Amino acid sequence: MSNITFTMIKPDAVADGHIGAIIGKISGAGFKIKAMKLTQLTVSDAKKFYEVHAERPFYGELVEFMSSGPIVAAVLEKENAVEDFRKLIGATNPAEAAEGTIRKEFARSVGENAVHGSDSDENAAIEASFHFSGREIF
Ligand code: RTP
Ligand code: MG
Repeated sequence: MSNITFTMIKPDAVADGHIGAIIGKISGAGFKIKAMKLTQLTVSDAKKFYEVHAERPFYGELVEFMSSGPIVAAVLEKENAVEDFRKLIGATNPAEAAEGTIRKEFARSVGENAVHGSDSDENAAIEASFHFSGREIF
């Protein structure tokens, strides 16, 4: 069990003006912000970040969407961070996400689903270092 996870507020939620509300929910749930920035993925960044999904039918759409506008990238700290953050964001498809979760409240659709959350401690570390140098993590 590790205490770090990585998140992105995706282009839909940034465009819809939900940055403040989402950060409020994250902080309210007890996550400490270790790193944070507004940035935009290039097509090649998005391809690399979601490489595990390269064979999936939605990969092209996902890459196009994730590079379509600014995102907020952040590293978060809390006991049991990966699992607790996945609970806070809810199911991939907002139609199936539990009441009170970030995706239930802010996502547009299964593809444009407001936030990313790491799915393992190993990936959290890889994803954090994809976006932040050591001196940007506090
Ligand atoms: P994420 O990695 O972004 O936190 O999302 P997740 O674990 O809940 O879902 P995952 O299976 O890793 O899928 C990554 C992202 O691909 C898009 N997707 N679209 N159209 C579709 O059926 C579909 N399925 C997945 C979503 O943006 C999803 O978050
Ligand atoms: Mg995932």
